[in-house]
Amino acid sequence: MKRIDAALHTTGEAQFVDDVPPPADMLHAAVFGSPVAHGTILMLDTSAARATDGVVAVLTAADIPGENQIGSIIQDEPLLADGAVHYIGQPVAVVVAESSEIARKGAHRIKIDIEKRPVITDPREAFAQGEIIGTPRTFVLGDVEAAWAKCDLVLEGRCDIGGQEHVYLETQRARAVPLEGGVVRVYASTQSPYAGQKAIANVLGLANHNVEVDVKRLGGGFGGKEDQATAWSCLVALAAWHTGKPVELVLRRDEDLRMTGKRHPYSSDFKIGVMRDGMIRAYEAKHYQNAGAAADLSTAVMERTLFHSTNSYFIPHVKAFAASCRTNLPPNTAFRGFGGPQGMFVIESAIAKAAEALGMPREAIQRKNLLEDGDLFPYGQRVERGEATRTWDEAAAAYDLPGLRQRIDAFNAAHFETKKGFAVMPICFGISFTTTFMNQASALVHVYTDGSVSVTTGGIEMGQGLTTNLTSIAAQAFGIRPERIKVESTNTTRVANMSPSAASATTLLNGNAMMIAIEQIMDRLKTFAAGEIHVPDPAKITLDDEAVLYDGSETGWTWARLVQTAYLNRIGLSAHGFFATPDIYFDKKKETGRPFAYHIYGTAITEVTLDCLRGVYDIESVKIVHDLGRSINKLVDLGQVEGGLAQGLGWMTVEDLQYNDEGRLLSGALATYKVPDAYFMPDDLQVRFLEDAEEPLGPYGSKAVGEPPLMYGIGVFFALRHAMRAFRGAVDLAFTAPLTPERVLMGLHPEGVEAPPVAFGAEG
Ligand code: MTE
Ligand code: HPA
Ligand code: MOS
Repeated sequence: MKRIDAALHTTGEAQFVDDVPPPADMLHAAVFGSPVAHGTILMLDTSAARATDGVVAVLTAADIPGENQIGSIIQDEPLLADGAVHYIGQPVAVVVAESSEIARKGAHRIKIDIEKRPVITDPREAFAQGEIIGTPRTFVLGDVEAAWAKCDLVLEGRCDIGGQEHVYLETQRARAVPLEGGVVRVYASTQSPYAGQKAIANVLGLANHNVEVDVKRLGGGFGGKEDQATAWSCLVALAAWHTGKPVELVLRRDEDLRMTGKRHPYSSDFKIGVMRDGMIRAYEAKHYQNAGAAADLSTAVMERTLFHSTNSYFIPHVKAFAASCRTNLPPNTAFRGFGGPQGMFVIESAIAKAAEALGMPREAIQRKNLLEDGDLFPYGQRVERGEATRTWDEAAAAYDLPGLRQRIDAFNAAHFETKKGFAVMPICFGISFTTTFMNQASALVHVYTDGSVSVTTGGIEMGQGLTTNLTSIAAQAFGIRPERIKVESTNTTRVANMSPSAASATTLLNGNAMMIAIEQIMDRLKTFAAGEIHVPDPAKITLDDEAVLYDGSETGWTWARLVQTAYLNRIGLSAHGFFATPDIYFDKKKETGRPFAYHIYGTAITEVTLDCLRGVYDIESVKIVHDLGRSINKLVDLGQVEGGLAQGLGWMTVEDLQYNDEGRLLSGALATYKVPDAYFMPDDLQVRFLEDAEEPLGPYGSKAVGEPPLMYGIGVFFALRHAMRAFRGAVDLAFTAPLTPERVLMGLHPEGVEAPPVAFGAEG
């Protein structure tokens, strides 16, 4: 089956929030953000904005009828700044006008006087000053303190990991429409309609049922719309509440870059204890997370860093500490991998350092320490049906890992300024929201009398192919053609209390909820059909390609006839399904439990060529063996693997998020913030899906796929480091990501390159 929305996207027919024809009287909003990263507001003068022709309203914190609060996990984030500002771009006022141009013109006329306070952008500095969000956490396995003395070699190091901008094609936006009786309907681009509904209700002082949030699809979310879509929905709802008119807000790219949070930068310390044979005996990590100015999802992201702090390795003695540190940057947030990638980068760095010290290939240490069934994660869960060694060995064999090392060694011996490098990157990623209660979902299924089907779930289509997956699953569960199935917009009046579409678990949760609803309808239909067809056992009735079968044989009945007859006999043709992931729990006091339903494994081999005089490089190949159970749609899954990899490669190499000491974003445009393009991707990209890896919990044996492939991208950092080492074995190389060509060059030539004398004038 093709992707359901492929034609709509290629023709441009697919509708996003602002593509739906606007009501005639719709107004437009623009946000006035703080020009200063930290300070006290002494004066805010909106009179010139109000006096601007075409401006209808200027709203500030004082105009919020309910609570000025949108924090989800911790209530520490005002919708509009009240008295103080904590980051550049923090919304202070919203201007509502007849056009977005006028609204922005009005916003420019707002005057603000801020008494500046010290700005912190560095997480270690924030930690030292006690600027900590929530409580720091520590995961422990065994006894590291006792283990160090028994190790042959103990190494320490530091990692500095950059953040990452989501660069969803569709910037943040929302449209609010006031309805009768004080009800407001918001069309939003959010991964979390229920979070939006709750926040709007809270801000406006309404009951949840008076707020309706509707989401058709997202032009990408990548985690950036899990929590951070909420503010814009609240602002348009507030504006509609005051003006009584529909209001739309669409952030420009530069506003979106400046005002929204990103992947968390981390600064981490590691200590690793190894034996001469490459066994890892002990590992300690301390993670300082740069949370930005408010909690947002930071504490949950930090928790996942701890869960993934040993990646796919078994280490008997582990101590992993993490603290979420408050800085004067936009609140950082979910981004594909949700803290996992940062934790994995640090252990991979520690292994690289150990390999260099032991004079062993990095991959020898990695392979030796891979997780096996029965091994303990440092959070008390045991490995069940692990695929770490299987994906590794299959990748090594299929892509000739031994030959690759020989080929690269030979190349490097024969070349001076060009060096090649490679790295193996195994991944292990836990599937489930780490916050256990979030692992629940609902679905509403209607069968119409013509046999067509309407499905609503709490899941959001954000480009990951959810609609295609749900359509396939529903068609298979009913035994009818996919054309019969229509997946509706996600709407809080049809499905209540949904968790965000996140944690790669959307198909798992919502697909199962939908199947449970379908099962109820099918049970009714089968019982009814048994009577009509005069057969004894309803359980032996099945549907295949719209034909009603009994014990596998034709009955002469079709789906269409069955549905029509059932309707006339007053059989209910709608159902609501509810699913909660079984057997997961976590005890935060003991920091142990079984937080994940299962884990995703895989292995990638990355090869690079590096120009050691210029710092520029090519990613020659990435070859992957990935575990996704039994695929629902192989092309959708391949798209997720390739897209995730692209984002991981970008994060590790060219996506360089820079703030200055005043907290101002320097890479504030797509001219200065580089994202990988088609040319950047490896020419040779191969993906094999692991066979015989069905997951009983997933719809039709499928496994989650959304986030894990991003972490294959980490391999490129170590492949580049390998090439750098081939050029200069002894130089001190930092574990600082992204490894931009500039950083490669400065790393390889720390003494500096003396510039030749330049004669000015001749060429200008
Ligand atoms: N793929 C596309 N095209 N667009 C997206 O926004 N988000 C990613 C991933 N793949 C995303 C994507 C993230 S962060 C997650 S958590 C999952 O998709 C969410 O969808 P899933 O649960 O269906 O995998
Ligand atoms: N992943 C993504 N989003 C989340 C999670 C998670 O594990 N926990 C809470 N929100
Ligand atoms: Mo994904 S970071 O869980 O939205």
